[in-house]
Amino acid sequence: MAIIQFIDVHKSYLSGAAPVTALQGVNLSFEAGDFVTIMGPSGGGKTTLLNLLAGLDLPDMGQIFLQDRKVSDLSDHDLTLLRRKEIGFVFQFFNLMPTLTIQENVELPLLLAHSSKTQGSRVQTLLEYVGLWDRAQSFPAELSGGEMQRVAIARALVHQPVILLADEPTGNLDSENGQKIIELMQRAASDFNTTVILVTHNPQIAACGNKHFEIRDGKLTPISS
Ligand SMILES: Nc1ncnc2c1ncn2[C@@H]1O[C@H](COP(=O)(O)OP(=O)(O)O)[C@@H](O)[C@H]1O
Ligand SMILES: [Mg+2]
Repeated sequence: MAIIQFIDVHKSYLSGAAPVTALQGVNLSFEAGDFVTIMGPSGGGKTTLLNLLAGLDLPDMGQIFLQDRKVSDLSDHDLTLLRRKEIGFVFQFFNLMPTLTIQENVELPLLLAHSSKTQGSRVQTLLEYVGLWDRAQSFPAELSGGEMQRVAIARALVHQPVILLADEPTGNLDSENGQKIIELMQRAASDFNTTVILVTHNPQIAACGNKHFEIRDGKLTPISS
């Protein structure tokens, strides 16, 4: 079963006088455990694609299915629940809460989702998984960039999402730390059967994973590896 499917998806934005085309006729199908990389220039449509994948925005035309549910049929409430329970996000600038400890940052998605998952042990498991349980009581500003991104990955995985979306996750890291982050996400994809979709400018990073695409002028094309 496809976890994510796009059928002839189009999206444009009204900006000033003329509409701007962001996606034109995107078709894709990703399975559980896929590690997908999407490379493309600025303005190519990467963020639009991730927003549609996360149910943050709807297509003008075409259909999107997440685990066999048609996204356009879901209510706002259902979409919020979908994001809280089934999708994890990792961002270029980590987006940790500066006033919360590492432990509290990782716990936050469970609190928002009113999750019944045994929170304390789940947070510890994930912080051990990324090798940072010994920093649980530190604050984000006390960590290096690579460590902050590992915390962000723990936070993104704590509610056991089906899909992990990563927008330039290595964009602010040196190549050694970037490589560690990619390895961690690859391990997570195989350990938890999470579908990872990673957007990047970096061809070296884009070569990781098992499905590779380029997006340019709103058109998604597979890259053979
Ligand atoms: N909210 C918006 N309003 C108007 N135009 C937008 C908006 N978001 C994106 N676009 C346009 O859509 C195209 C694709 O943008 P985007 O998906 O952000 O590309 P990328 O993330 O690859 O840089 C660009 O031409 C961009 O200017
Ligand atoms: Mg973008």
